[in-house]
Amino acid sequence: MPATITALSHYLPPNVVPNSYFSRYLDTNDEWIQSRTGIKERRIAQSGANSDLIIPAALKAIENRGIDKQEIDCVIVSTVTPDHMFPSTAAIVQHKLGIKKAWGFDISAACSGFLFALTTACKLVEGGAAKRVLLCGSDKMSSIMNFNDRGHAILFGDGAGVCIIEKSDDDSGIQDQILNIDGVGGKHLIQVSGGSFQPSSKETVEGVGHYIHQEGQPVFKAAVKGMADVSKEIMDKNNLSSDDIAWLVPHQANKRIIDATGKRMGLSEDKVMVNIDKYGNTTAGTIPICLSEWHLDGRLKKGDKIVLSSFGAGFTWGAILMEWSI
Ligand SMILES: CC(C)(COP(=O)(O)OP(=O)(O)OC[C@H]1O[C@@H](n2cnc3c(N)ncnc32)[C@H](O)[C@@H]1OP(=O)(O)O)[C@@H](O)C(=O)NCCC(=O)NCCS
Repeated sequence: MPATITALSHYLPPNVVPNSYFSRYLDTNDEWIQSRTGIKERRIAQSGANSDLIIPAALKAIENRGIDKQEIDCVIVSTVTPDHMFPSTAAIVQHKLGIKKAWGFDISAACSGFLFALTTACKLVEGGAAKRVLLCGSDKMSSIMNFNDRGHAILFGDGAGVCIIEKSDDDSGIQDQILNIDGVGGKHLIQVSGGSFQPSSKETVEGVGHYIHQEGQPVFKAAVKGMADVSKEIMDKNNLSSDDIAWLVPHQANKRIIDATGKRMGLSEDKVMVNIDKYGNTTAGTIPICLSEWHLDGRLKKGDKIVLSSFGAGFTWGAILMEWSI
């Protein structure tokens, strides 16, 4: 049987930051932000680390599954904003939850992180190396945003989505994936300092190297092509028409990228999950937060064929075909 998502939940910090927050001190405005990105507001955590976003979502996901947390035997966190360079945020989550017997690790693939981590978790379950994975896609982007850089400060937000991955009871679950990485895009979207390339120092802290560095246009162009192409590719590979797809679950980076992907797949707007207006880009969080919201309010139904699609720093991009199991 394929592996699948058997329960999920999400958490967004309560502090809502509308576009007007930025127009108070930056040369930007609500009209520009909404028309160029689709974002109206985002959530920004006022305290705590990334793991503090994950824990409430993880507890709820475990409760929704109706299992004891001790039945989790692997914890995977996908993030570019770990609590620390090391130990892994997975270890912190395992410890905070009080899970006694598990293994785990972090995955870093930026905005494609959830897709890469979901594939990894499913292969571990299908191969028998894990029985029940707690899969967390979460980022506290406010910890690396330069709030004085209008080019990216308006784009990002904080949030977490957590899924439980197990073997499916039937044929539903993960059906196919196409995943890509190409370091040619590295320089366009990068956090330069703080790693072994340029360790933290007085000079790096006084500069901007610990913040996101993003060149919007090259990332935008590559994202439109990458996400649209790979989403169409997975449809063609599996002989699916737009009528066969119940939902596109796109990474929420920019409404224009999402629209281009849906259009390329031949999907009407009512088949495309969009919540970028409320949360901005929460990096590894966007796709599991969408899945959780649409599942919890009943719009995502058992048996729905869905395509998850993403593009992010690296560059990394990909698509996953799933049949929804719950
Ligand atoms: C960042 C992004 C919204 C900018 O939109 P854009 O249409 O590409 O805009 P450009 O970068 O070409 O800039 C156009 C103008 O708007 C200005 N601008 C940039 N940010 C602005 C803001 N927040 N408010 C007002 N003006 C802004 C630019 O300075 C530029 O001005 P100029 O023409 O005087 O030089 C867009 O490039 C984007 O979404 N990129 C991808 C980001 C992404 O997905 N990142 C995550 C990884 S997937």
